[in-house]
Amino acid sequence: MELPNVKLRELTLADAEDRYRWCLDKEVIKHLNMPSKYPPFSKKETEEWIMACMNRTNGYHQKAILTEQGKHIGWVDLKNIDNLNKHAELGIAIGDKVFWGKGYGLAAMREMLCWGFDLLDLNKIWLRVEIDNLKAITSYKRIGYVEEGILRQDRLRNGEYVDRLRMSMLRSEFLDRC
Ligand SMILES: CC(C)(COP(=O)(O)OP(=O)(O)OC[C@H]1O[C@@H](n2cnc3c(N)ncnc32)[C@H](O)[C@@H]1OP(=O)(O)O)[C@@H](O)C(=O)NCCC(=O)NCCS
Repeated sequence: MELPNVKLRELTLADAEDRYRWCLDKEVIKHLNMPSKYPPFSKKETEEWIMACMNRTNGYHQKAILTEQGKHIGWVDLKNIDNLNKHAELGIAIGDKVFWGKGYGLAAMREMLCWGFDLLDLNKIWLRVEIDNLKAITSYKRIGYVEEGILRQDRLRNGEYVDRLRMSMLRSEFLDRC
């Protein structure tokens, strides 16, 4: 499958504006691990979050996703980095819905997987996805993520507990695709 070219770059404070706007879109944030209030974050909180990512004070390696033309369309991150056991958790969102379903999520994930396996020397990159986020689950399966099991009532979403599926990719399964 021919995927579009994407670039990952370090966040800048200017990214807070797009990020704030995307988080106002209920369809984009429906399955993201964010507070149930609306909007989930104020502009100030969004700026503080971006700063924390930039300064590496929140445990996130978060990167901006850019199209080949340099348009900022989303973010992808690795967190819960376990250096002892060499694994980390991946998160992703394409905030600009115009770019959904065109392979950008897969392309950005592939870049982040390469980075995590190569540069962070991880052995496994795992994720948690809400059980009713079928679009995301389809994308993860397409790139080769394997199901590890159901995390029962793992997320409190709008007052309701939702199961999450845990999936993972091993370095040995992926590295030949970098
Ligand atoms: C989940 C998410 C990241 C997936 O990203 P995406 O860019 O929409 O998904 P992709 O296009 O990469 O995924 C594969 C789909 O694109 C299609 N595709 C892949 N390459 C393609 C190409 N070159 N041209 C056209 N379509 C392509 C695939 O056939 C598949 O289509 P399908 O949905 O009809 O099965 C994105 O929808 C999103 O940000 N959702 C909101 C936040 C969220 O839920 N994040 C995940 C939390 S766990």
